[in-house]
Amino acid sequence: MKNNKLYIVMVGLPARGKSTIATKIKEDLKHDSIKAKIFNNGDLRRKMIPNNTSIAEFYDPENREGVNIREKIALINLEGARKYLREKGTVAIIDATNASLKRRKKIQGLLNDHPILFIECINNNEEILNASIQRKIETPEFRHLRSEEAITNFKKRISYYMNIYTPLKKEYNFIKIDSLYKKVIQEEIKDNIPYYDQIRDFLVTDTVKHLYLIRHGETYFNLENRIGGDSALTKNGLLQAKALAKYFSKKEIPLIFTSNKKRTIQTAEPIKALQKKCAIIPLAEFNEIDSGICECMSYEEIRQEMPHVYRARKKDKYNYTYPEGEGYATMKERIDRGINKVLYLSDTSKNIMIIGHRAANRMILSHFLFRREEDVPYIYIPLDKFYYISAAQNRKLFQLKKYE
Ligand code: F6P
Repeated sequence: MKNNKLYIVMVGLPARGKSTIATKIKEDLKHDSIKAKIFNNGDLRRKMIPNNTSIAEFYDPENREGVNIREKIALINLEGARKYLREKGTVAIIDATNASLKRRKKIQGLLNDHPILFIECINNNEEILNASIQRKIETPEFRHLRSEEAITNFKKRISYYMNIYTPLKKEYNFIKIDSLYKKVIQEEIKDNIPYYDQIRDFLVTDTVKHLYLIRHGETYFNLENRIGGDSALTKNGLLQAKALAKYFSKKEIPLIFTSNKKRTIQTAEPIKALQKKCAIIPLAEFNEIDSGICECMSYEEIRQEMPHVYRARKKDKYNYTYPEGEGYATMKERIDRGINKVLYLSDTSKNIMIIGHRAANRMILSHFLFRREEDVPYIYIPLDKFYYISAAQNRKLFQLKKYE
């Protein structure tokens, strides 16, 4: 009989996006009716020893007691995974750092009845790591510590893991992935790995379950048709933000990503206020197109005072770059970076919200929905509706929805 069962073993330092990727693989496999289950060492540890494994010394490789407890937890999960595949399961995902060679040898010794695919997650982007650590310390595990104390402990935990970390090299089947940019760094597959083509494809695809892409409410600049700047919301804009808040109050929105501009943050605030637990994360990557020497001018003023700018932009709006500013084409790199940050930081949350601007949202939308470059700068982005996007490797859904 053809062996269609598989172990996936995640590898990587803490806060490298392992659980996000493990969850994504599980859900995508499930969507294809393939039974998959995650065996997460951290979750088991928090369940078995609820008190104080947030202190870094628990992870010190010289701390015998800590090492023994962690080995015991790992063993319980490995045995659970073996049992799962012996019974009804098809893919068992071991989600832990599995950072040392010693641990991986143990795994290979125990899980010897089906092939193993190792997936190593790599990300050394300081800014993202810090944001990710910030999210981790907001979880119940760290709640009893002051924020600086929690950060210090988490960083120290990472450095303990660094001491024992050996990247994948000799393992039989492995794939290394840049978990922020979803790029395959190295791939060595010697066995026949079931579902490999699918899994590889999941790994490099931007997946969003429910993404709500919203434009900020009406601003004073909008009333005068002025571009750029940092104008505040009008009364009507504030009412729009309140209407959005009411519309989304029944959904769980743990994070709202905005730009650094007043108008997107002001739109996010009432939404946050009606949520149980919600944080606003401003990202400069989602700022509106920088219109350089035309900032704060109206379209009419540009047409009259800078006809060369007006004509050149009209001719090739996508590739045109405002003098001393940006164009759609030059925004692409930062917008894509912003999307990668959002997907990384959203972890396993099913609802993601981005509040951006007209040009920024056009670029975000076109990241998920193919449009010819020449059409991107004309995508319809109204102030009183939002885009709902659901995207995976095998399905895409886009809807323009009213919230009032
Ligand atoms: O008018 C609002 C605005 O967000 C401006 O700040 C920005 O320059 C413009 O829309 C982008 O739209 P377009 O590329 O069509 O000029």
